[in-house]
Amino acid sequence: MASRSEPTPLALILAERIRSHGPITFAEYMEACLYHPVHGYYTKAEQQPGRDYFTSADARPLFGRLLARQLQEMWCVLGRPDTFQLVEAGAGTGRLAKQILDFAAEAWPDFYQALRFIAVERSTSRRSVQSEVLDAHIARGRFLSRDELPAEVACGCIFSNELIDAMPVHRLVREGNDLREIYVGTDKNGLCDEMGLLSSSELSEYLSEQNIHLNQGQQAEANLAACRWIEQAGKMLKRGFIVTIDYGHEAQELYDERHMRGTLLAYERHRAGEDWFRVPGEQDLTAHVNFSALDLYGRRSGLVQTGFISQSNFLLALARHGNFSDLQSDEMTEVEQTQRRLLFKTLINPEGMGETFQVLIQHKGIDPENLAGLQPL
Ligand SMILES: C[S@@+](CC[C@H](N)C(=O)[O-])C[C@H]1O[C@@H](n2cnc3c(N)ncnc32)[C@H](O)[C@@H]1O
Repeated sequence: MASRSEPTPLALILAERIRSHGPITFAEYMEACLYHPVHGYYTKAEQQPGRDYFTSADARPLFGRLLARQLQEMWCVLGRPDTFQLVEAGAGTGRLAKQILDFAAEAWPDFYQALRFIAVERSTSRRSVQSEVLDAHIARGRFLSRDELPAEVACGCIFSNELIDAMPVHRLVREGNDLREIYVGTDKNGLCDEMGLLSSSELSEYLSEQNIHLNQGQQAEANLAACRWIEQAGKMLKRGFIVTIDYGHEAQELYDERHMRGTLLAYERHRAGEDWFRVPGEQDLTAHVNFSALDLYGRRSGLVQTGFISQSNFLLALARHGNFSDLQSDEMTEVEQTQRRLLFKTLINPEGMGETFQVLIQHKGIDPENLAGLQPL
């Protein structure tokens, strides 16, 4: 792996571009680091087993089974339509899709029959893995994959797990009375922070519309891509739900004095750090999600908030809804039951994924009942 003294191919490309054309926004930098057509972190095939990130989908098949329970209930709430479009945005290699489809086929043949699963993934290498992993469901006409959202989702659900945190963010800082943007420039050591004026008036609107006041010296991220994404998804959805699972907070908490340096992190071999210029293209970059922004920008395309709850609460409520049969059943050996319980603990542990991870459900074109996953414990 390259060290800071050996620039990655992408670091060289970006430094050259900055020297010729001037500093780039951090959002442009992050876009290149994650999605550059050749050197982007997510463009390249997933590095197994030393992958830098671990998502709830890795706690297979439990996470998929519990989520499937919620999706199946949504299908019932929508009146058991003959066709239920289930769109997973940022589906990666299809791990979660397989868990959901396998369980649906086994547990609810009528729901499975109605399912049209559309995995949306911008990385070609990841899409090619999906077609291997999901071949049985493809053959039955239940699964297809594409690189962008479909033009319309007439009836169904659009969901994502750790998509929004992987979208490029702008970096801002309050200096005195001024709001400034932190760009990416170059110095004698390579890439570095460079202060400048805001690159777009959308950034100051983003803060003022949400009543966000940064403290003196506070750094913060603004994910305009997420705002555009939820607006677009909301427009495409005619009747049904949008489920967003990710780590983050509502704006009031995300931009409070406990987050003076923002939430941007670089992940390499499961270790989080703040040197996001170390190995561009070879480390994952993420920032916490602002769920208030998803709610606000979603409302612009007719989405209404159904509920917002911690992942722990969501999964525990769904486990209860399934009479805890996902954790223990007569068919499971003692060892399997112990494994399931340990995985479940990882998913709901307040110190681990359970409390930082949140679930936002929005709906459109229906009057939903109380969903199982949103029930208090
Ligand atoms: C952190 S990974 C999560 C993958 C998977 N959902 C999981 O839980 O393991 C984020 C994925 O979202 C994809 N992605 C990012 N932005 C996207 C977009 N606008 N449309 C489709 N896929 C996107 C990335 O290529 C990457 O595969």
